[in-house]
Amino acid sequence: MMICSERGRMMKKIYLIGFMGSGKSAIGRRLSFLLKIPYYDMDQEIVKKMNMSIPEIFARYGEAFFRQQEHEYLKTFRDEWCIISTGGGVAINPSNSKLMRQTGLVLFLDATFADIWKRISRDVNRPIVQSSTREELETLFTTRRRYYKSAAHILIRTEGRSLRQITEYAAFQVNRLKSNDMN
Ligand code: S3P
Repeated sequence: MMICSERGRMMKKIYLIGFMGSGKSAIGRRLSFLLKIPYYDMDQEIVKKMNMSIPEIFARYGEAFFRQQEHEYLKTFRDEWCIISTGGGVAINPSNSKLMRQTGLVLFLDATFADIWKRISRDVNRPIVQSSTREELETLFTTRRRYYKSAAHILIRTEGRSLRQITEYAAFQVNRLKSNDMN
């Protein structure tokens, strides 16, 4: 399968971006099954590499270090046709967004804050949720949404749609943008 960027370069990866709890991992896994291409969860890859949980990495080394790990992952990840679900902070760094846009197709899962809050409010595995109030998270959501929108090739609204509907729509967009060459 081949996707060509504006500059005619090969685009091999499908990146899922969006706020925490927007469904990136759930959709990534399903999309991988539907399109029969490998799936990687960036957070899980960093956890494996460090042999520590995300809260442990934040507590021991701080957020800036975690952001470096995310950037390294994007820069050095092998050249392979695959789906990658990113952490909610990845697309906020302009050099990450540039890299993603150059090497793949970027899909933004645009969920409402109300839906997101229902999914993440009690999650102890997300340090940013643990250290923020609901109001702070909503402000972060609003700020970040602009970054996600400008980093994305495609925006997918998730409100009122099932995981299956979202996955099928994402697959439709991927297929629409790919050329006929399959490899
Ligand atoms: C973060 C999102 C998390 C994880 C870390 C920081 C963020 O990933 O990378 O807790 O800054 O939004 P998910 O978006 O998969 O929850």
